[in-house]
Amino acid sequence: MNPYPAVDPIPLPAPVWLMKLLHLVTLSLHFVAVEMLLGGLLLAILLSLLGSSANAHTTARALARRLTIVMTFVINLAVPPLLFAQVLYGRALYTSSVLIGVYWIALIPTLILVYWLLYKFSARLERGQSAWWVGLIAWLLAGGVARVLSTNMTLMLRPEAWRNMYAASAMGAYLPTGDRTLEPRWLMMLAGGLLIGGLWLVYLAGRSTFTAEEKRFVAGLGGKVAAGFGLVYLAAGLWAAHVQPEAVKIGLTHGVANHALYRYEGFAGYGWIALVVVAVLVGAIAGFGKIAAGWLGWAGVLTAVLVEIMLTVYRDGVRDVTLLSKGYDVWDRAVATNWGVVGLFLVLFVAGLGVIGWLVSVAARAQKTMEGAA
Ligand code: HEM
Repeated sequence: MNPYPAVDPIPLPAPVWLMKLLHLVTLSLHFVAVEMLLGGLLLAILLSLLGSSANAHTTARALARRLTIVMTFVINLAVPPLLFAQVLYGRALYTSSVLIGVYWIALIPTLILVYWLLYKFSARLERGQSAWWVGLIAWLLAGGVARVLSTNMTLMLRPEAWRNMYAASAMGAYLPTGDRTLEPRWLMMLAGGLLIGGLWLVYLAGRSTFTAEEKRFVAGLGGKVAAGFGLVYLAAGLWAAHVQPEAVKIGLTHGVANHALYRYEGFAGYGWIALVVVAVLVGAIAGFGKIAAGWLGWAGVLTAVLVEIMLTVYRDGVRDVTLLSKGYDVWDRAVATNWGVVGLFLVLFVAGLGVIGWLVSVAARAQKTMEGAA
């Protein structure tokens, strides 16, 4: 019996390829912001708890000041991929969301709490008060949000489990574990946080708001964290790919009939490995050489963004091939493109990016105070 709810009779208002492209672009950016939050926050907590030097406190404060802004990007860059995912995969995603409904709805108050705690964390650090425990609560909650998202994104790929789950309880209070792809996937996002968080510090080390001594400290710490946890991230990623069902692995390496794209999405996996290795090298150069050069920071930023793009493309292939093997073809949809609306959307999309660029340039030109200043 077909486990999926009936297709919405209203056709898609834009081609599937365009929806997918926009989904991949916005989701990659969401992942960059998520990793900065998870990794940057953990580093700030550890620095404020264990660091005894003035450099450690300055670095913790510098991260905490920026985390509230990072959180706005986490959320704003999460809404578009959520909307595209619902349009493309709604019949699977809505079903899994209903099954874990209690936790899914709980994400909203949890996120508000995380946001508030980030402000508290930063304010306490500014006042020189003990702050690590506030940060830790925020980090645990953010890790919980990541866990619920990983749970939903893996449960949506298991239509064979839905019927029995719903028959046993319609409460929506499931938080399933037994899926062998879930743990590596979640752990991978957590380890990736420290890779991206480390590269973020390498970038920050190039800023003129740090003294020469602070720069060496920030670059040395960030680079070593990026290099070490880049290797953990690599291992977790290989584990996550290894535990995929055989049909998915074969589909991504040899292709699937009539779906040449999936072979290329499979290649993105190799691109991801190569880029993580580059990120580890960038980290090692900055970390062991204590080099706080602007070019190295930007190399780290570029590598971080490319790593997340490759991950997102490969992950997209995993989802599509898994669902295809279970009778759900994302390309098999009626489309009636409304080009006027698509055109207007693209104009607004580009204008929105322009406004963000302007905002960033204003922030960059603003009068700077030294990070270590009280
Ligand atoms: C603390 C805040 C957040 C964290 C730590 C976080 C973390 C994550 C993680 C780890 C994943 C990947 C899950 C996986 O595939 O294993 C993910 C995906 C996703 N997140 Fe977030 N997220 C946060 C906020 C949000 C918010 C506020 C939204 C929605 C408005 C959102 C929407 C999504 C969506 C839609 C995906 C998956 C998209 C797809 O696969 O198509 N996230 N997030």
